Amino acid sequence: MIKRKSLLLLLVPFLLLCVNANTATQNYISRGVDIDRSNIPKNIMFASFPGGRSHVKPMLDIATILVERGYNVILVASGENDTSIEYPAIKQISLGPKIGLRDIGIEVNNEAITFDKMSKLLELGAKSYERVYEIYKSVAEEYNTDLFFCDLLLNDACIDIAHALKKPVVGFTSGLRIMDPKPYKSDPIIMNQINDVRKQLNIEPGNIALGRGVKSSLVLIDTFFGFELPQTLPPYVQDIGPILSEEYPPLSPELSYFINGHERVLYVAFGTRFFTTTDNNSKLLQSFIEAINKKIVDGVVWALVETSKDNFHPTLKLSDGTQVQTSPILNNEHPHIHITKFAPQFTVLNHTNTKLFVSHGGAGSSHETLYTGTPVLVLPHAGDQIGNAQKLITAGVASSLSLNNLDINDILNKMDSLLKDEKVKKNSERMKVLAKINSKRKFRAADLIEYMLHSSTFVEDFNNDFLKEWFPADTRMGIIRANNLDIFAILLIIILSIIGFIVVKLIKLFRFLLMNPSSDDRKSKRE
Ligand SMILES: *[C@@H]1O[C@H](CO)[C@@H](O)[C@H](O)[C@H]1NC(C)=O
Ligand SMILES: *[C@@H]1O[C@H](CO)[C@@H](O)[C@H](O)[C@H]1NC(C)=O
Ligand SMILES: *[C@@H]1O[C@H](CO)[C@@H](O)[C@H](O)[C@H]1NC(C)=O
Repeated sequence: MIKRKSLLLLLVPFLLLCVNANTATQNYISRGVDIDRSNIPKNIMFASFPGGRSHVKPMLDIATILVERGYNVILVASGENDTSIEYPAIKQISLGPKIGLRDIGIEVNNEAITFDKMSKLLELGAKSYERVYEIYKSVAEEYNTDLFFCDLLLNDACIDIAHALKKPVVGFTSGLRIMDPKPYKSDPIIMNQINDVRKQLNIEPGNIALGRGVKSSLVLIDTFFGFELPQTLPPYVQDIGPILSEEYPPLSPELSYFINGHERVLYVAFGTRFFTTTDNNSKLLQSFIEAINKKIVDGVVWALVETSKDNFHPTLKLSDGTQVQTSPILNNEHPHIHITKFAPQFTVLNHTNTKLFVSHGGAGSSHETLYTGTPVLVLPHAGDQIGNAQKLITAGVASSLSLNNLDINDILNKMDSLLKDEKVKKNSERMKVLAKINSKRKFRAADLIEYMLHSSTFVEDFNNDFLKEWFPADTRMGIIRANNLDIFAILLIIILSIIGFIVVKLIKLFRFLLMNPSSDDRKSKRE
């Protein structure tokens, strides 16, 4: 009894505490989470040389957050303003037409997008340098730009203008491989072309945080580990992806009707820039028809975008020998195939009836497929898509095809196993959560840009004391101090001296022994 009473007594102060805590929370005062924005410079230029939705959309999603926080953002990019309706708060200035495959000599019925063709893209970048630099310059002067946010693909002009105007610059890319700048920067001929133009125009090359010894910048990468292979990053390179919009357009009534009327829909799209040959298109269409006939899927939606209805053979011969006319299919007379020029991709992938995606494997499409947990059959066309296909396979949510040898049976088998494999389902669920939680980091991207602007107001010399907080001490010290090489060198000298000393002593000892033969030797000589 006594024990119980004392226990109860012990409880009294605890109960009182609870009551206290409860009343106290009502009087708590906010920490004050927001930063004071009154003295932060406000004008930001976002710039992309290639332009087009795939490059510009993630940039605009970050820009939107900044506009909501009171900044003035202007986008300068190649392309016809195709995103200006979706992002009305951001003024858009065109650098000229979107850079497409046709600009580097790739027509629909051309052969492969070879490395050769890709290097034409680099040449195009070099040739456009002066024109683009001048546009950036005049826009920057007109709008009093305080910070440059530069898409890193072929966009040296953006980094150089920031340098010339002594303004901070943030780099942006979707691929970590830019950290190993080979794909775009290693071509000495093109670098020389750009350097020659720079010399003529008397422009100093700006710096961006790529590789060693470059100090004055920050690079944001639209990717996340899990999709990207994990690696350590220096503090001035931060992964902030996958960037996705807060809202997406709804399905059109026809598309909605079609997808709601099918339970296992395959969605096909190759981005807004890519297309392939008539032979390849026809083989793909044939495999989709056969996939429906074999009940692997029950519906197909194909967003043709850059492919026209003329880029298909008029008749197809199916594996079982039947002949099929393509034109009625392309005109949506097939009950289970829906052809459209454009589809709201995220919304289609997000629909519960969409079970599989056939994609070119662009960064944005890869992020959307992971975010919506849709397994994907990747048909990479060029650029980073080959690497993305590999990453999606490593993540356990994909198989891949090659444009160089499309085989109907191979396509059907891969589709079937992606749809049936339990491991693929589990990996898709796992990646979905990872993509979702990381998709909040676009707000951090905006925070980091704000900080760049804020800290730039305190800085005199961009090349020396800007962003010390993100530049590892070793990049300022030089290789020798950073790696303690001086200490190792002294140690090495000491050790070598000791060894040398011992060796010299030993040699002397041997000489001494040889010149004064021992008593044993004398004995043996006598015998
Ligand atoms: C792009 O859209 C803006 C309005 O946001 C308009 O002022 C501008 O003229 C357009 N430019 C082109 C090239 O269409
Ligand atoms: C398919 O496309 C690739 C790349 O464009 C090309 O190399 C290949 O020859 C095409 N195959 C056919 C059968 O057209
Ligand atoms: C995506 O799916 C989720 C869950 O079903 C839903 O809440 C959301 O509104 C969908 N969004 C779009 C754009 O379809």
